Amino acid sequence: MKNTVVSIQNQKDTHEKITMLTAYDYSMAKLIDNAGVNMILVGDSLGMVMLGYKDTLSVTMNDMIHHTKAVARGTTDALIVGDMPFMSYQTSIYDAVCNAGRLIQEGNAHAVKLEGGTIVKEQIRAIVNASIPVVGHIGLTPQSVNALGGFKVQGKDIKAAQKLIEDAHAVEEAGAFAVVLECVPAPLAKQITDELSIPTIGIGAGAHCDGQVLVYQDMLNMFSNNSPKFVKQFADVGEMMTQAFQSYITEVQQGIFPSEAYSFRMPEEIKNKLA
Ligand code: KIV
Repeated sequence: MKNTVVSIQNQKDTHEKITMLTAYDYSMAKLIDNAGVNMILVGDSLGMVMLGYKDTLSVTMNDMIHHTKAVARGTTDALIVGDMPFMSYQTSIYDAVCNAGRLIQEGNAHAVKLEGGTIVKEQIRAIVNASIPVVGHIGLTPQSVNALGGFKVQGKDIKAAQKLIEDAHAVEEAGAFAVVLECVPAPLAKQITDELSIPTIGIGAGAHCDGQVLVYQDMLNMFSNNSPKFVKQFADVGEMMTQAFQSYITEVQQGIFPSEAYSFRMPEEIKNKLA
């Protein structure tokens, strides 16, 4: 079944949990889409997990479009959300609408995501007015890593918690159809989820959000051994891949691969003529 902004809202209304995973290329999007996830996020986390940067700040619009296009080619049913990279929407409302438009027109995303609450509500409103669905993102907003002083849980004291509630309402009022809550204490995420009419998608925000999102490399242990507390490893694909690569190296070195079974034959008479 095709997922749309309407079906995602229905899931909140009928208390059916929403699933979202990241993907950054064709083959992984195909696997994740076939598994039946509701939404695929082409996150700017690609800067770290695909491109090897230390944070997401170096990711460009061209990077996002390149990867979003590949994901779109591999996706049939999931709703594709393209992340707006650092400096693609903070600079002006005009930039925000143009760059959101590029993710839809050139990247073939169905929706865009941008970080921030009250501070970006005019950008969200303008993008929504251009008929582009928006996902908000509050709590730990990795594009603000330097301003936040690191990747830390947000909303821990009363003032910060109240500010997050205010941000969540601002994002909803501006017209976003969903909001990601990243690294937020579970009780605060529950309160926000109860107060909003749009779905909340949690990452490190406890069980009471309307949905969950994870970076696939984290859940498959393909990226680093220091994954955050909120990441559950659903499979050790990193270890499986390492073992497969090592077996390949050994078999090539020992002349075991490729055996007859993996080679093409030639008719005897042609072979004899070559000799
Ligand atoms: O870029 C990303 O993958 C994200 C998720 C962590 C929500 O924003």
